[in-house]
Amino acid sequence: MITKNELIFVDQQKAARILSDGGLVAVPTETVYGLAANGVNTKAIARIFEVKKRPFFDPLILHFASIDRISECVESLPKIAIDLLERFSPGPLTLVLPKKKVIPDLATAGMNSVALRIPAHPMTLELLKNLDFPLAAPSANLFGQTSPTRPSHVIDQLGDAIDGIIDGGPCEVGVESTILDLTKTEPIILRWGGLSQEDIESFLGRRLKTQTSSSKPSAPGMLESHYSPGVTVRLVSQKEKETLIVDPKAAFLCFDKFNSCLPTERQFILSQKADLKQAACRLFEGLRELGNLNPSVIYSELVPDIGLGKAINDRLLRASAS
Ligand code: TXA
Ligand code: MG
Repeated sequence: MITKNELIFVDQQKAARILSDGGLVAVPTETVYGLAANGVNTKAIARIFEVKKRPFFDPLILHFASIDRISECVESLPKIAIDLLERFSPGPLTLVLPKKKVIPDLATAGMNSVALRIPAHPMTLELLKNLDFPLAAPSANLFGQTSPTRPSHVIDQLGDAIDGIIDGGPCEVGVESTILDLTKTEPIILRWGGLSQEDIESFLGRRLKTQTSSSKPSAPGMLESHYSPGVTVRLVSQKEKETLIVDPKAAFLCFDKFNSCLPTERQFILSQKADLKQAACRLFEGLRELGNLNPSVIYSELVPDIGLGKAINDRLLRASAS
């Protein structure tokens, strides 16, 4: 018997055909799985919004194979953009730059700028090299919910609505790319992600401004409520954690140690060695696993607010705002 999963998994050749025909393919990246479509085909882009139930005011990231390909789609590529791309790409860095007309307004929510990156997963890079268009790809989850870091996560939420998925195994980074806006007089971090603010700052030799939170649609995609595992998430401080009296049906997302208030089966440890890289990689997995226990609430602590910890805490704060 052919299972649904066998029908939906495709290789890069098949994926390229589907995408060229305006279809949707979920693709692996080093950060999270993306829901990809031809980034210069308005109809295909519209399907992304439809399938994800994503509001049109939330612009998409375009994925490219190389800096040369990027330069064809932006008004100008300043030296700082080239330097950053040469240093950190392929990898979890997204730049916002003034767009050329070839990028449809639908992809950018009507803005004159476009977000773009070169993803580091070899299968998707190979796919991009063989296409003559960039791929628009948001995370492959329903709008507002936890991002997928494995093919099964994509299939659970979107399996019936997409035309194929490339199985690239579990994602290495586990949180989305860091977004840096280069359209203003100085670079501004719009989203903390898989490349740490400290790494960018030490490369550029200066401190960066951040503008990472908003509940206003005029600041697209930075919604305060996001990444929801479908259950209430409540953040607890270290002090509260020790004295917390919890419902036995609750669950706990811990940084590096179990918590005495619940049996260990109802807890998920992000990283026993308190390694922020590992914690980032396991974050969405943990939210999902605990969500699958159908708990009354998921308690979570914040992690140290340095390096990738900033991206983790950002996702936890937004998940708890749902
Ligand atoms: O790691 C990632 O970036 C993943 C993988 C699939 O590449 N993609 C991803 O896409 O996280 P998505 O759609 O979940 O997040 C895209 C966010 C938007 O919500 C918005 O915050 C920002 O990118 N964005 C896109 N275009 C923008 C623009 N022109 N100006 C400012 N922000 C923009
Ligand atoms: Mg997303």
